[in-house]
Amino acid sequence: MVVLGIESSCDETSVAIYDSVKRDILSSSTFSQADIHSHFGGVIPEVASRNHILKIAPLYERALSQAEIQSKDIDLISVTTHPGLIGALFVGVTFAKGLGYALNIPIVPINHLYAHILAAELSNKELTPPYLALVASGGHTHIFYVDSALSFRLLARSIDDAAGESFDKVAKAMGGGYPGGAFIEGLAKCGDSGAIKFPIAFNNELKFSFSGLKTAVINEIKKGEYSRQDIAASFQKTVAKTLLQKVLLALKEMGANKVVLGGGVVANSELRNIFKESASKEGFELYLPELKFCSDNADMIAYAGYRFYPKREFLSFSEGALDTKAVRQRFYQ
Ligand code: KG4
Ligand code: ZN
Repeated sequence: MVVLGIESSCDETSVAIYDSVKRDILSSSTFSQADIHSHFGGVIPEVASRNHILKIAPLYERALSQAEIQSKDIDLISVTTHPGLIGALFVGVTFAKGLGYALNIPIVPINHLYAHILAAELSNKELTPPYLALVASGGHTHIFYVDSALSFRLLARSIDDAAGESFDKVAKAMGGGYPGGAFIEGLAKCGDSGAIKFPIAFNNELKFSFSGLKTAVINEIKKGEYSRQDIAASFQKTVAKTLLQKVLLALKEMGANKVVLGGGVVANSELRNIFKESASKEGFELYLPELKFCSDNADMIAYAGYRFYPKREFLSFSEGALDTKAVRQRFYQ
């Protein structure tokens, strides 16, 4: 089965093609708008939508030619329908619907967070559910239990800022551009992560909060007692330790032994290391996506389409773009 994946939920327009027989991505084309939004210090939804409109068709053409296939070779379309910026999502979904109608093939609606999790299966071909999964991205910090029927049970979430959002806000306070994760990681490399003890919110409870940490860090920046490097390193360590603490709690609660990580924040090397160390100490199996599958990409969407296809919950061409029963049931949790 050849699956076309389309991602346009935030500021990356991405189109990829997955071949289930080869169990591999045939091609992937992404345009990141990060430089455009960096001038504004964050993503401007209207600007994002307009750039998706400009890029989606050329990226689709490029994905086909790099995969050396034609549109008639596509068996299935898979598109991010939720969560994300509504206007941005609309571009991808509308493109998918037009193409699906023209080619007379089904469209699988994909939850972006689930795709971030399934990205680890692309990088670890032997990996299958059940497993525990943490998504840490710019808008979400969620822990799910994924069972063998590919049902996602939400176990924990942030009550305020997401982990990635806290990186972005702290970076902004330090004069870095958007997105801020790589900027903080760069600073942290030359800092002492033990310099400042920031508390873990909801210590030993299965929920996240990063807003208080962000405020404590910004106060520390204003006080000017520590270098930016030390603040960045201490902040980064606290986020990593927080994510790990909640995952360990969830592992215990579920009696699970496999952990999957996904989302942009999982590109962070401190986070990856802290989880790897804990996996060997605590004896759980850890599955990480390759770096190229951490940030937003259509590879994970195409693969998720293939994985969800057996459920046969397709987007209807005639309903409102995002208003299908399947989408509502699956995504509004
Ligand atoms: O998954 P993603 O690419 O987009 C969303 O679905 O939101 O995640 C983007 C987030 C941003 O907040 C960005 O600052 C963060 O991932 N991020 C990082 C790193 N690279 C990206 N956070 C920490 N360290 C990084 N190296
Ligand atoms: Zn994402």
